[in-house]
Amino acid sequence: PNSPLDVAPITGTIGAEIRGVTLSGDLDATTVQAIKDAVVRHKVVFFRGQKDLDDARHEGFASLFGDPVAHPTVPVAQGSRYLLELDSKEGYAASSWHTDVTFVDAYPKGSILRAITIPEAGGDTVWANGETAYDSLPEALRQLVNNLWAVHTNLYDYAAVLNTPKGTDSERERTNFHKSVFASTVYETEHPAVRVHPVSGQRSLLLGHFVKQFVGLNQADSSGLFQILQNHITRPENVVRWRWQPGDVAFWDNQSTQHRAVADFGLQRRTLRRATIAGEVPVGIDG
Ligand code: SIN
Repeated sequence: PNSPLDVAPITGTIGAEIRGVTLSGDLDATTVQAIKDAVVRHKVVFFRGQKDLDDARHEGFASLFGDPVAHPTVPVAQGSRYLLELDSKEGYAASSWHTDVTFVDAYPKGSILRAITIPEAGGDTVWANGETAYDSLPEALRQLVNNLWAVHTNLYDYAAVLNTPKGTDSERERTNFHKSVFASTVYETEHPAVRVHPVSGQRSLLLGHFVKQFVGLNQADSSGLFQILQNHITRPENVVRWRWQPGDVAFWDNQSTQHRAVADFGLQRRTLRRATIAGEVPVGIDG
């Protein structure tokens, strides 16, 4: 269908830039529908130069797409109602592949991330397409994942996502800090490894770093299979990489993607704020 928006795909499989829209809570219904369609189709869309998008407008924009929800364990960003702040000042970058908040049953259907302070070089974010990943699996692997379920939990190795050298005191302090903030309540749930998209009906791989283990497999087999599938999802052919400027916004379909920060910026400051939109309990192939 023809979009009333200027939508320019970035790669052959994922990502598009939308030009000519100033984001706010006041967009008309046609524009909102066109953005929804673009998000489902391209998985992640980018808007450059949204300099006037403050916290209130960011939340207003998010509420055009559903109910904004706060993160279940991290306190909301100062001065906002629902936003999560991602701030490198504690040495943190969400630098392992994940889908947001999959450790709860009805995890968010979409996330809207706005760049505030960005290093001069580095600190990009990458997204991967779970649908093209599923579609391009060899038949034997597809059969295997079709009936597979995974346990997701927020208790995972935060040391892996700290932007500091391994084993240093500051790394240990930061690990403790993040454990105390992020895992203050332990959540655990099971999701199908293949999710059917509630709008498009497309199948996608639902995995990422909150996966603890596949149901019915031991830890060793589970880790081996997880690695095979994650390697498949995150192939360069299946990924888009965004070089941020302050004021940029990324809006992704959290039902069909994974993403991660690229932690190549040392201890430089990098700050973004994220809105998430309430989602549904995932439906697998068998309904
Ligand atoms: C996120 O995981 O939502 C944030 C990714 C990033 O900081 O680039």
